[in-house]
Amino acid sequence: MPNWIPNLPEQVRRLALLVVVVVIAFLIVRPMLIPAGFGEQGHFRSGALNDAVAHDYKYAGKASCEECHDDMTSMLASGYHNNLSCEVCHGPLAGHVEEPEEVQPEFPRGRNFCPVCHEYLSARPTGFPQIVSQSHNQLKACINCHEPHDPVPSEVPEKCSACHGKIARSKAVSHHANVECDFCHSVNEGHKTSPREFRAAKPIDRNFCGQCHADSENGSDAPQIDLSSHEPRYVCWQCHYPHLPEAK
Ligand code: HEC
Ligand code: HEC
Ligand code: HEC
Ligand code: HEC
Ligand code: HEC
Ligand code: HEC
Ligand code: HEC
Ligand code: HEC
Repeated sequence: MPNWIPNLPEQVRRLALLVVVVVIAFLIVRPMLIPAGFGEQGHFRSGALNDAVAHDYKYAGKASCEECHDDMTSMLASGYHNNLSCEVCHGPLAGHVEEPEEVQPEFPRGRNFCPVCHEYLSARPTGFPQIVSQSHNQLKACINCHEPHDPVPSEVPEKCSACHGKIARSKAVSHHANVECDFCHSVNEGHKTSPREFRAAKPIDRNFCGQCHADSENGSDAPQIDLSSHEPRYVCWQCHYPHLPEAK
């Protein structure tokens, strides 16, 4: 054995041989594994650029629709859907821009499309308009009621009857037909948009009804009772439904 080779134990020399063989094998194989063009323009295969360019493009972009559909483009631009691209709903339309008659757009007219963005999800930001499609006006398509290019926010119903229809209908045919809802309930405006957050107030004691029914001096044409002797142990509405009162 030449004396420049250190006098190492047999197993270490075998291991060293193995390492040398692996390194040489790697150096031989390496050029075969690297794709052509790698590193020419950076840490990527330069041919990838041409491959990407060669793909057919599918989306034309919103700007290209304006040329022929300026009415729709301006309607969309002024409304709540202004940030949406036309092709998010009508599908990729590069072909249509080239040949409008040949390539026809899609029309998402069914109920399952809009909920992609509007279905209630607890992860969506509060304030983003969301609905539960199973209970929101089930029987009709969304576009029956909402113009897809110009959806408008919900209107706040002005009348109590919009949400309390049954009570309003009972009261309308009752002795209290002429007593307004807000005579007995003071209602914050907020109640009409967030009813559970802004609760409407209800009468809390017998004196409230007594304003009309127990003060013969009040000039009211309401039938009178004596507040101190007429069933004093209960509040009035345990016996008289206030929206349809009866004296039986
Ligand atoms: C070069 C003009 C041109 C461009 C650009 C163009 N369209 Fe059209 N589009 C037409 C014509 C023409 C028709 C009618 C085709 C027919 O009657 O078969 C049409 C029809 C449509 C319809 C169907 C209307 C209907 O009543 O059936 C939709 C939706 C539509 N285009 C959307 C788009 C969108 C979205 C873009 C942009 C990505 C776009 N178009 C770009 C010319 C164009
Ligand atoms: C939120 C989804 C949505 C977006 C965004 C949208 N559309 Fe539509 N579009 C629809 C639906 C749904 C219909 C079918 C309406 C119907 O049948 O009443 C329609 C119908 C149309 C029609 C035919 C309407 C008619 O009255 O003849 C044209 C043209 C059209 N869209 C063009 C566009 C263009 C251009 C854009 C972008 C500027 C756009 N749309 C963006 C959903 C959308
Ligand atoms: C029969 C008519 C009708 C149909 C069908 C309908 N909506 Fe509505 N939508 C309304 C009315 C009215 C309001 C406003 C009152 C309310 O909030 O309930 C509204 C409100 C909304 C709002 C706003 C909610 C908010 O918190 O501001 C969204 C979003 C909405 N609808 C999406 C849809 C979608 C998506 C569909 C289809 C799955 C649909 N609507 C079907 C009538 C309808
Ligand atoms: C790609 C997502 C997307 C799709 C699909 C979509 N919308 Fe919207 N929608 C939005 C955004 C974003 C707004 C604006 C929200 C805002 O202003 O905070 C909006 C607003 C609305 C509003 C206004 C509600 C309010 O109270 O402000 C209604 C109604 C509505 N969309 C109905 C529809 C209907 C019907 C469809 C199906 C034809 C539809 N949207 C499809 C994203 C979408
Ligand atoms: C947008 C729909 C809506 C409108 C409009 C509305 N309410 Fe309500 N109201 C509700 C809902 C929802 C509740 C809560 C029901 C529950 O908690 O079970 C409620 C509850 C009430 C209650 C009971 C409060 C309680 O703590 O028990 C009263 C009283 C009331 N409303 C009165 C009115 C009056 C008066 C008006 C008209 C000035 C009115 N509401 C308009 C939706 C509405
Ligand atoms: C004469 C006074 C009076 C008038 C007018 C009146 N309410 Fe009430 N309302 C009451 C009283 C009192 C209660 C509490 C009943 C109870 O706790 O059992 C009540 C309860 C309610 C409740 C709670 C649910 C229920 O049925 O007990 C609602 C909702 C409500 N009123 C809505 C209305 C609406 C809407 C109108 C107008 C259409 C109206 N009220 C008119 C006195 C009145
Ligand atoms: C703003 C005045 C007013 C208030 C407040 C009022 N009522 Fe009346 N109520 C009347 C008038 C007026 C009549 C009679 C109407 C008629 O003759 O048709 C009446 C009739 C009645 C009757 C008689 C029904 C019958 O069959 O003869 C009862 C019971 C009654 N109210 C109960 C109540 C109760 C309970 C309250 C409190 C929750 C109340 N009222 C609050 C004005 C009022
Ligand atoms: C325990 C049940 C009960 C309670 C509580 C009660 N009432 Fe009555 N109320 C009756 C009955 C039963 C009648 C019919 C028989 C009568 O005239 O005594 C009546 C009759 C009336 C009448 C008609 C009187 C007439 O001359 O036509 C008025 C008005 C009335 N009540 C108002 C009130 C008011 C206001 C309160 C609360 C201060 C109240 N009631 C509490 C059971 C009740």
